[in-house]
Amino acid sequence: MFPAASLLTIIFLALSIAGSPVEIDNSPITLPIARRLNVSDGPINLLQQDKARVTALKDNSFSTQGGRTGSTPVTNAVATYLIAVGIGSPATTYNLIVDTGSSNTWVGAKTKYVKTSTSVDTGEPVAVGYGSGSFSGTEYTDTITLGTGLTITAQSIGVASTSTGLTGTSIDGLLGIGPVDLTKGSLKNKPTTTIPTVTDNLYSQGTISQKVVSISFEPTTEKTVTNGELTFGGTDATKYTGSIAYIPITTTYPSSTYWGINQSISYGSTTILASTAGVVDTGTTYIYIASDAYAKYQSATGATHDAATGLLLISSSQYKALKNLNFHIGTETYALTPNAQIWPRSLNAYIGGSSNAMYLIVCDIGTPSGSGSDFVNGYTFLERFYSVFDTANSRIGFAETSYTDATTN
Ligand SMILES: *[C@@H]1O[C@H](CO)[C@@H](O)[C@H](O)[C@H]1NC(C)=O
Ligand SMILES: *[C@@H]1O[C@H](CO)[C@@H](O)[C@H](O)[C@H]1NC(C)=O
Repeated sequence: MFPAASLLTIIFLALSIAGSPVEIDNSPITLPIARRLNVSDGPINLLQQDKARVTALKDNSFSTQGGRTGSTPVTNAVATYLIAVGIGSPATTYNLIVDTGSSNTWVGAKTKYVKTSTSVDTGEPVAVGYGSGSFSGTEYTDTITLGTGLTITAQSIGVASTSTGLTGTSIDGLLGIGPVDLTKGSLKNKPTTTIPTVTDNLYSQGTISQKVVSISFEPTTEKTVTNGELTFGGTDATKYTGSIAYIPITTTYPSSTYWGINQSISYGSTTILASTAGVVDTGTTYIYIASDAYAKYQSATGATHDAATGLLLISSSQYKALKNLNFHIGTETYALTPNAQIWPRSLNAYIGGSSNAMYLIVCDIGTPSGSGSDFVNGYTFLERFYSVFDTANSRIGFAETSYTDATTN
């Protein structure tokens, strides 16, 4: 038994730890990720690409057998964050989309899978139907190398014999770091089986001590730049300022099956979206909000709809009058400044816009609020806030960065 005084000390200690979160940073592994806008063939319809994904994020149905019948969202293949991953021994390098909105890891869309002595064919047919594409093939296990020399043995990967949606690009497949349950239904003969993700295996093989993935994106005005960072097993304190605030994964379906949260949104001091559920997603470019919230945002900003880009367009005087767009998450408020609400003007031509025009990055999700999936905080949000995806504690964290208020666009 504890003497009362020391028990009290323990309680105080526990309280002070809870009050000022201590980031335990055990053996985190930090890897560079590159953002790429593939615009080699002239202007791209970024909104259309993005919307196919957003639609799929809202359509996540499970059959009675537990298998997924809805489509898994493929990421927007023209504007993505890519990671170089080695597979096999000796390793072949594949460029994979970093995707928090799906959980299968697979290769073979462009660079063919090269079998080596570490490749094991499980014989299991695997297929994932995406919002704007698909892959099907065979599930293998193989050694994966991340960064320099960090390996995962017997990682389950899909080897595509056919894929659609990513063809014609230099993307080889996906690194799915969403919740493991999203892999259910992808093995054709085992519809209730989940496939451990890279994060799961890094943890079970003792390489990382927490099932945590953290992401640092930075705003960019360039087409291709390596300015992102993925950390497995902890956080990188050099990439954020202040402390990380966490909120639980939402219980509202279907956002609950992704990295989903509750949030409300205000424009200036006016609430445009009451507290509701949605998704945080690295595979979506813009920010999507329910149609009623979007209408309020459009009318408050005075923006007009631009047919060429599909985005909201504002004049320079409307830009000067723009207020912060505030995301209320847990007890915190994450503010997108006026500059963070516009698309980088140096990239206007690539999305079919005119050079000095100001396009807003807030888009209509296409359904009224109350759908269980009323927003997608895409990477235009994540480029302003550091994000932490914590599986063990079913929570997501955000922190400000030196880019939160930066004038970059
Ligand atoms: C960009 O996309 C085009 C057409 O989809 C493709 O031919 C080209 O290889 C891609 N470029 C890169 C760098 O991925
Ligand atoms: C999120 O919002 C829903 C609907 O209001 C509520 O039931 C739930 O308790 C909230 N919190 C979480 C963590 O889901």
